[in-house]
Amino acid sequence: MSDKMICVQNVNHSYGSVDVLKNVNLDIYQGEFLAIVGPSGCGKTTLLNLISEYEKPVSGNIKRNGALRMVYQQDGLFPWLTVTENIGLGLRHLKNKTEKMHQIEEAIQLIGLQGFENHYPHQLSGGMRQRVELARALSGESDILLMDEPFSALDYLTRLKMRNELVRFLKERPRTVVLVTHDIEEAAQLADRIIPLTTRPATIISEKKIHLEKPRALTHPEVVEAVHQLLITLNPENDASRHKSMLNEFTAEESR
Ligand SMILES: Nc1ncnc2c1ncn2[C@@H]1O[C@H](COP(=O)(O)OP(=O)(O)OP(=O)(O)O)[C@@H](O)[C@H]1O
Ligand SMILES: [Mg+2]
Repeated sequence: MSDKMICVQNVNHSYGSVDVLKNVNLDIYQGEFLAIVGPSGCGKTTLLNLISEYEKPVSGNIKRNGALRMVYQQDGLFPWLTVTENIGLGLRHLKNKTEKMHQIEEAIQLIGLQGFENHYPHQLSGGMRQRVELARALSGESDILLMDEPFSALDYLTRLKMRNELVRFLKERPRTVVLVTHDIEEAAQLADRIIPLTTRPATIISEKKIHLEKPRALTHPEVVEAVHQLLITLNPENDASRHKSMLNEFTAEESR
């Protein structure tokens, strides 16, 4: 495995007669920030569940190096525990109580939920719950972070802020990250490599690398270009038809 943290080899997966993943091969390297994008229902969460060993693939192999934490797409918080207690679960290994409380406070600050320490998940909004999940996953000493749409319930500005917070956090405490997102801009702003999945059964047909310092401005030409390319990859018909209609407009103009 050397510097590979995750090796996905010839993985096929299905649920009954529904084929979900088809011949997926993917190596993820130490310290890499990998984003997986793709249409709803194509198999992104399934792939994360296989990597986390929550499920076993029907065929193929998955190898992993190191401890892993996951941010779930749907409520992964324990409803009977407060914000502090939920985050504290990620810090079970810390025996020193003062150190543990210090780290919990730091995590709460990171997600901007000061004042909600003793609230239970049902007393929080969906976006607040997502932020607690993120704090829990970031706390502690994992090597790999799997994140399934961690910012999807947040408003646009909070989402931008959380992306920057995540970049800042990873600079301080680097780890290997696999981010699943619908948001192509998010992927282009955060990832070193982006894997677009096809519709179900999902397979990998291309990848996009972005060698650009972080934090990245949304308006940086390389980010804009990556978004454009990903849109074409994910939706080639749309782009072809857009170009065709643009061409029609031009030829109509010329013949006037
Ligand atoms: N436990 C399960 N049992 C049966 N079918 C499942 C199960 N989990 C997922 N599926 C099916 O597998 C397919 C892929 O689901 P998955 O949740 O991986 O998609 P996704 O890409 O994460 O979608 P979204 O972007 O909407 O979150 C879907 O057709 C779904 O119905
Ligand atoms: Mg999903």
